[in-house]
Amino acid sequence: MTANKVAVVTGGARGIGLAAVDIFLSKGYDVVVVDMSYAVANDLAQARGGVLPIECDVSDPDAVSAMAETIARQYGRVDALVNNAGIASLHPIQETDFHTWKKIMSVNLDGAFLVTQALTPLMKEVAGAIVNVASIAGLRASTLRTAYGTSKAAVIHLTKQQAMELGAYGIRANCVAPGPVETELLAKLVEAAPEMKASYLETIPLNRFGQEKEIAEVIAFLCSSEAGYVTGQTIAVDGGFQAAGVGLTALRSAQ
Ligand SMILES: NC(=O)c1ccc[n+]([C@@H]2O[C@H](COP(=O)([O-])OP(=O)(O)OC[C@H]3O[C@@H](n4cnc5c(N)ncnc54)[C@H](O)[C@@H]3O)[C@@H](O)[C@H]2O)c1
Repeated sequence: MTANKVAVVTGGARGIGLAAVDIFLSKGYDVVVVDMSYAVANDLAQARGGVLPIECDVSDPDAVSAMAETIARQYGRVDALVNNAGIASLHPIQETDFHTWKKIMSVNLDGAFLVTQALTPLMKEVAGAIVNVASIAGLRASTLRTAYGTSKAAVIHLTKQQAMELGAYGIRANCVAPGPVETELLAKLVEAAPEMKASYLETIPLNRFGQEKEIAEVIAFLCSSEAGYVTGQTIAVDGGFQAAGVGLTALRSAQ
């Protein structure tokens, strides 16, 4: 087993995952980036050092097993697992075809289940920590998010199941639920529904979108010993979106 701590970040080639990779590197972890975009992950590894890129579709059980074998051979431990890989698309319920539903479930939910199951033996070695990346869409319902929001609500519950069973090994499992963050994922959604940006801002007390690093800092905290007694929790990192009711527009126009 390597002496260094090891973090595994799925979907770590860009966006929120990449911001988490950078924080783990700054804390001295070796980092495994598990991503479909191998070329991007490989460039990242060349540029940063301390990064092992592994091409893997987290929804493919065989690919996930092979990925876990590589990590077992190379490092023999996993201290932090961030199940961050995710996809989104927006459709009204009646236009959410079954293929789209299954695809979103398979990456967002099956992926977090499969990767955690495959890496649990390596986390048991060191009482590792899991952070699943859900979404505010898993806590609050909005239009067009039947598949995405439901997949993320399931990830929040999966986190509690993981905390229940894996606590016996000292493994903690927590969840972050980001509000809107300007990544490639969000850019595609805003392109499909341009009114979305203004709608979000109307409901976010901090009146802005989040930054990738602001999500990643909370992920890193939950993986750290400072959060050693925190498990089974979901933290919304959302500028207050989850807490907000009506009245912000009137308040702002009065100010
Ligand atoms: N950006 C937001 O506003 C926002 C808000 C709430 C939650 N989230 C969640 O945060 C996570 C990261 O989002 P982001 O905005 O950084 O996305 P992004 O699209 O910028 O990056 C996602 C990364 O995941 C990888 N990926 C996609 N499918 C994969 C698969 N099947 N297997 C392995 N890798 C795969 C992509 O190649 C990419 O590198 C997602 O789970 C997303 O649902 C994002």
